Amino acid sequence: MPDVAYVNGRVGPLAAARVSVLDRGFLFADGVYEVLRTYDGVPFQLEAHLRRLRQSLRGLRLPLPLPLPRLQALILDLLRRSGYADARVYLQVTRGAAPRRQHAFPRGIRPTLVVFVERVVEDGPRRRGLAVVTMPDPRWRYCHLKTLALLPNVLARQAAVRAGADEAVLLGPGGVVREGSTSNVFMVRGRVLRTHPLGAEILPGVSRQVTLAVARAEGLDVREEPFRLAALLRADEVLLSSTALEVAPVVRVDGKRIGGGKPGPVAAALQTRFRARTRTRSS
Ligand code: PDD
Repeated sequence: MPDVAYVNGRVGPLAAARVSVLDRGFLFADGVYEVLRTYDGVPFQLEAHLRRLRQSLRGLRLPLPLPLPRLQALILDLLRRSGYADARVYLQVTRGAAPRRQHAFPRGIRPTLVVFVERVVEDGPRRRGLAVVTMPDPRWRYCHLKTLALLPNVLARQAAVRAGADEAVLLGPGGVVREGSTSNVFMVRGRVLRTHPLGAEILPGVSRQVTLAVARAEGLDVREEPFRLAALLRADEVLLSSTALEVAPVVRVDGKRIGGGKPGPVAAALQTRFRARTRTRSS
């Protein structure tokens, strides 16, 4: 079977999967999600993604719809059915469908669990270096939870694409660099690598953790501390991390070239180390 989906106990082709229009994910974005990758058939950082899923669920006071071992078995079963070695797994939990639309949490409804598997399409920007544009962060106060409230992220990314860039970098008060619309952001100056500290302003990216670990292994001085747009524009290198991008170089910020407009040596070294970790089970 190619792209395959699970919806509350049913498995079938992704294009045929359906949920109710009364589902609170559809009506209120009342839900959370995860995206993870497999390399050679093995899910990368599965435990970290499931840990963050539980944190996001707790944040919305949603129950885990299946015990963790069953959720893990379900993911592996869908991967087997898809037959993909390099796949993207999408997991979504919403509060479920109530008989009528009401804002407060309805009693006695079952959460909706959706899991689907897609083939990974390698994208060019990750290799050639990305262009980004910066903008004030329009998102809400719970950016550390991986919720479905993605409309500000969608509008930000679309504005970036309209400006001829690949990603939007979102700025907090005072021009503090937070993260991208679907990625975490790093700057390198000399042998120092900086990224915004964990907190409600950014998503605790699983690839961010992997990037910090490989940066330390590379001997970089890793600092989780805030920095501003002015510092980003003066950086030797700028990097993004995400499940889709792994760790990838940025070569333009707001039209200004970074590192002469070419991917730099730190990006190359971290990309190599990151890829190596995807090939070991104990990543
Ligand atoms: N998004 N920040 C935001 C706002 C994100 O949406 C994501 C990932 C990240 C990186 O997290 P991770 O390294 O765990 O993928 C940071 C996923 C990929 C998405 O929405 O498709």
